[in-house]
Amino acid sequence: MLAAQLPIASVVTPFQSPANMTGPLLTYHPDAALRLLRPGRLAGLQAALEAARDETLNDVDQWQSGQPLPAERQPLDAGFIQWPEELLADLQGNRASSLVARLEDSGKRLQQLADSLVVLGIGGSYMGMRAMFEALRPACWNELCRTSRQGAPRLYFDGWNVDSDRQQELLSLLDQRAAANPNAVDGRTAVISISKSGGTLEPAVAFRAFRDFVEQRFSGLERDLIVPVTGESGRLRSLAAAAGYRDVFSIPDGIGGRFSVLTAVGLLPAAAAGLNIRALLQGAADLTDHFRRAPFDQNVVLQFVAVCHAFEVDHGLNCRVLSTWGSRLEAVGLWYDQLLSESLGKHERGATPLTVVNTRDLHSRGQQHQEGRRDKLITNLLPGPPVLAPLAVAAHRLDEDRLNQLAGTTLPRILDAAIAGTNQAYADVGRPTADLRLPGLTEHALGQLFQMLMLATVVEGRLVGTNPYGQPGVEAYKRNMQANLGIQ
Ligand code: PA5
Repeated sequence: MLAAQLPIASVVTPFQSPANMTGPLLTYHPDAALRLLRPGRLAGLQAALEAARDETLNDVDQWQSGQPLPAERQPLDAGFIQWPEELLADLQGNRASSLVARLEDSGKRLQQLADSLVVLGIGGSYMGMRAMFEALRPACWNELCRTSRQGAPRLYFDGWNVDSDRQQELLSLLDQRAAANPNAVDGRTAVISISKSGGTLEPAVAFRAFRDFVEQRFSGLERDLIVPVTGESGRLRSLAAAAGYRDVFSIPDGIGGRFSVLTAVGLLPAAAAGLNIRALLQGAADLTDHFRRAPFDQNVVLQFVAVCHAFEVDHGLNCRVLSTWGSRLEAVGLWYDQLLSESLGKHERGATPLTVVNTRDLHSRGQQHQEGRRDKLITNLLPGPPVLAPLAVAAHRLDEDRLNQLAGTTLPRILDAAIAGTNQAYADVGRPTADLRLPGLTEHALGQLFQMLMLATVVEGRLVGTNPYGQPGVEAYKRNMQANLGIQ
């Protein structure tokens, strides 16, 4: 097929389209797994899970009351639960002066100023935006021309590792772009520097390098081209004040790093990338409402936790495989890996998350899932219909590959056959699978998914008596690294 015949233009989703502000809820189908649990097992968990839900929701009131907390309940970063609803209410009441409007304005300003955007951050200050970018933007985004990107910049991530070569390669690419287009938007780079504590070494070191680059290459514009997103205090906050950056966004105190994807941490880069941040928030708010009200047997959060917990306790399945069907969801899986590991990997307990992308990983991990150790619960994450009109297998006069029998069959149809075939293969040998179905790859659906998995992680923590907030174990490596470097 000629390139001109491909529906290239439709790869870019429209800006702020009111039509996709809402949509159907995601659904959870654990039927195949339930056949492997003893009858009535989930119903037996109902009371404990409803109590865990109440505790999760009561935490919000406790956190908002500002009352001192006993040591075993600290930290309590429950602010993410009602945050999307609060932002939408703020938008409704305060319009242009609301936080959502200010994030959109800042995102648009970055679009107008620069054609390359570097987002710096690590852990919770990075993975959520990467998940959104990969899920909602085409894989070849950075290769598209500015018009096809509807004026949104190319996007790069750094500060999530210490990798001299990689950082130099990116700086050198951006430098070449600047040299080729001096004084033009096409040559300019903007930087969003994200760190809640403001002191994490990896993004701080990267920020020095990218800040120097911006100051040298785009002298006079750095106050507009650099936007910090940080906590109310800390080194990045002080630096932002000293530098006088035009926009600085806050990460609220009661929202922990890996629960912060729907704060400025994710929303500012998302707005700059032209995503519909209102729909993201609406999706999360709709899911929270469902979590609060839906009865146990229809509640996607409670059902998901019940199935994961029952298989871990009854069958020792402490490896949770998130099996993503479609490359666009891999980074969502990596975001969830972090969420589950840092939240529940404590006290020598907590399931191990693992993300796979199929059908790619059927040709690697699939062997182990079919015949290896019986320690895995597989949750299929299904993205819904493709964003573009489906491709089909073409007929050809040379049929030595015997594919003319599939002529006209679409790729989604082939993928469906792979999904059904894989589930059947696992069922045949008593390996549990469940399906988590998105209604489509939209901002609204992704907002729901983020909120669902964050709520599920907290509910499970409350169920098993592990504080899901905080990550004391991560501090040990930081202390040692800083001591090795002689840092004060
Ligand atoms: O979940 C968390 O809190 C962590 O993963 C943090 O997001 C990560 O360590 C980065 O921290 P900061 O944003 O303070 O640089």
